[in-house]
Amino acid sequence: MMMPRMFVARKLPDDVLAPLRALGEVVVWPEERVPVPPDVLRAEAARADALLTLITDTVDRALLSDAPRLRVVANMAVGYNNIDVAEAHARGVIVTNTPDVLTETTADLVFALILAAARRLPQAERALRAGQWSGWAPFDFAGRDVYGKRLGIFGMGRIGQAVARRAKGFAMDIIYHNRRRRPKEIEDALGATYVDWETLLGTSDILVVLVPYAPVLHHVIDAAALAMMKDGAILIAVSRGGIVDEAALYAALASGKLYAAGLDVYEREPIAPDHPLLSLDNVVLLPHIGSATVETRLAMARRAVQNIAAVLTGQAPLDPVEVP
Ligand code: DGY
Repeated sequence: MMMPRMFVARKLPDDVLAPLRALGEVVVWPEERVPVPPDVLRAEAARADALLTLITDTVDRALLSDAPRLRVVANMAVGYNNIDVAEAHARGVIVTNTPDVLTETTADLVFALILAAARRLPQAERALRAGQWSGWAPFDFAGRDVYGKRLGIFGMGRIGQAVARRAKGFAMDIIYHNRRRRPKEIEDALGATYVDWETLLGTSDILVVLVPYAPVLHHVIDAAALAMMKDGAILIAVSRGGIVDEAALYAALASGKLYAAGLDVYEREPIAPDHPLLSLDNVVLLPHIGSATVETRLAMARRAVQNIAAVLTGQAPLDPVEVP
């Protein structure tokens, strides 16, 4: 039997990849910060039994149709909209992701963004560094309270629930909207109330977008949805770009309809240096770092490795992705 060949689409620590090297030949794209070019990924996939991919790697029909040996694509992310899962399944290729290991870390980042946007932390820090802090003044750098406010969560999955747990500690009134209503035990434990879309938009002081990307959700937060939001509300987006219409968000922030926003994800990543949102002061812009702690990124890489090892040794993968 031929030794399995595995392609790892980004440089990862050697000790993380050791379990794969024990199973066969491992080829690693040598760059840590530059994604593997699509033609190289496709050529490697054509000879591989397993791929370890990142959200920057597109695994589409063309790649899959030219990968006769491929058995598993292990994405080092919880999201997998970079992969044509239906096509992979049709070809008998297992797709896996890395849920759970990043839940708490990402929920921490959601709260960091909420606090940064509401309390104007980046603006205050920028002013201090620029020598513009002349001393304590009653309303200098004054933001908005977070505790006690109404928090709307759009997408009550693992991360949404972890955000709700944190919000309880801030005495927030938690409402949520989700494709499927959560069981009463979960709602009770979180102190979260299920509401319809209109109520979520119309009554949240702070609205957090946590749904995974799906074509049906493209620009679901558009100009009409933003117009339905409370005057002076805060919008936070942490799951995937494309759900919030960035041009409409710009208009809502520039007009003062929204008090502030905090974004970690964008329609195009990285954003262009002349992206209109960069010209606004009332938006906190982070470079897709929701899961970016050393502990969690290592855990995600290890989990992707475990998923490949399981499939190549004939076991069930730990985190199989179903067709959405
Ligand atoms: C994910 O896991 O989907 C994030 O967006 C990348 O960490």
